[in-house]
Amino acid sequence: MNHKQIRKIFLSFFKRKQHKILTSASIVAKQDSSLMFTNAGMNIFKDFFIGQKHSQYSRIANFQKCLRITGKHNDLFEVGKDNYHHTMFEMLGTWSFGDYFKKESIIWAWELLTEVYKLDKSNIYVTIFKGNKEDQLSFDRESFQYWKNQIDDRNILFFDKKHNFWEMGTTGPCGTCTEIHIDLRNEKEKLKIPGKNLVNKKHSLVVELWNIVFIQFFRKADGTLVKLPNCHVDTGMGFERLCMILQNKKSTYDTDLFTYLIKSIAHKTKQIYGVKDKIDIAIRIIADHIRAVVFAIYDGIIPSNKKSGYVIRKILRRIIVNYYLTLKIKKPFLFKLVKPIICYIKNSYLNKSHLKHDISSIILSEEKFFLKTIKLGIYKLEKIIEQLRDKQCHIIAGKIIYWLYDTYGLPIEISKIITTKNHLKVFYSDIL
Ligand code: SER
Repeated sequence: MNHKQIRKIFLSFFKRKQHKILTSASIVAKQDSSLMFTNAGMNIFKDFFIGQKHSQYSRIANFQKCLRITGKHNDLFEVGKDNYHHTMFEMLGTWSFGDYFKKESIIWAWELLTEVYKLDKSNIYVTIFKGNKEDQLSFDRESFQYWKNQIDDRNILFFDKKHNFWEMGTTGPCGTCTEIHIDLRNEKEKLKIPGKNLVNKKHSLVVELWNIVFIQFFRKADGTLVKLPNCHVDTGMGFERLCMILQNKKSTYDTDLFTYLIKSIAHKTKQIYGVKDKIDIAIRIIADHIRAVVFAIYDGIIPSNKKSGYVIRKILRRIIVNYYLTLKIKKPFLFKLVKPIICYIKNSYLNKSHLKHDISSIILSEEKFFLKTIKLGIYKLEKIIEQLRDKQCHIIAGKIIYWLYDTYGLPIEISKIITTKNHLKVFYSDIL
């Protein structure tokens, strides 16, 4: 199945369950001042949950582009190291606004995964909230009862608030959740360690697939919970992970959502993907981040020195540092990756970009400027190193590294690599 069929099956399934099908809202959190980017499908429905607005539909199914690079949900530093984390991901979502609750959510999730997508039941684990004294919440007995009717007891696990209580941010609508995880390891591996021991342990092949949240509370700024007038459902399934499972891959980066990008990056940087870890990590970071940047620019954010524009610029620079240092690429090339990503966006989403500028040109000018910055910074640093060498000094002051960053924008990580290569120790205490 390709990603288009996978998405279509999800939406058709919930259409049959009387859900209104909607397309994604913008990745820029326009309606919510507490967020810069849409970090979960539920952001756009926040007002329905808290009763400030009334939804025209009591059941909705959709797919939402999300970006998790700031605030409570931030996956930026996980990306690349493993084979399944992303900053920008698409979430398949279902919503009940004061309509059905735990029973239907659980039964339908199970039906879709095991009868429609035909996933092997024995590989599935579900987690249930075991209660929390501080919030005066008890064990989620109801979800447990419904899951017991579907899945083997041995595949039901219990976790605390960290894993089974979902909150959008420090304040806002929230509630207990039940998560569906899947074990993708081979039989030999499963015999060595049972899958249940690896759930929520950051194992790359035992991953969370679907989060079913029962929105019932509002977290106030003082940390207390108040009950909402109605009970709602917010479920989110990671589209990239679902594609990975259904396409029989061990990495989201090997699905048809990413292979075109991975191939193109490898080709343009003259690297081979899948041989050396260090190179693979760099390629995955580039693939993930450039997708995130293009999606964000498409939805109207221009890289800048302010707010969300600054966050996007930082991500772009993170890619440039990465290709400059690891792949030894000294010329702009990211801008060449833009076209196929735009193609994907246009095919998958109905919304048109309101942007008048050409995204490739925006990225090209960012690349050119930052590469120039890096080169000038390195030139200055090398001059200083020469002087130190003449004086037979093996130490460089931390404030010089900071000055190069502050004045010339030379990233500290680049300075560190160059000083280490030149056998210089950085004396940091002068900047403490
Ligand atoms: N809001 C939940 C999440 O983001 C489920 O959609 O995981």
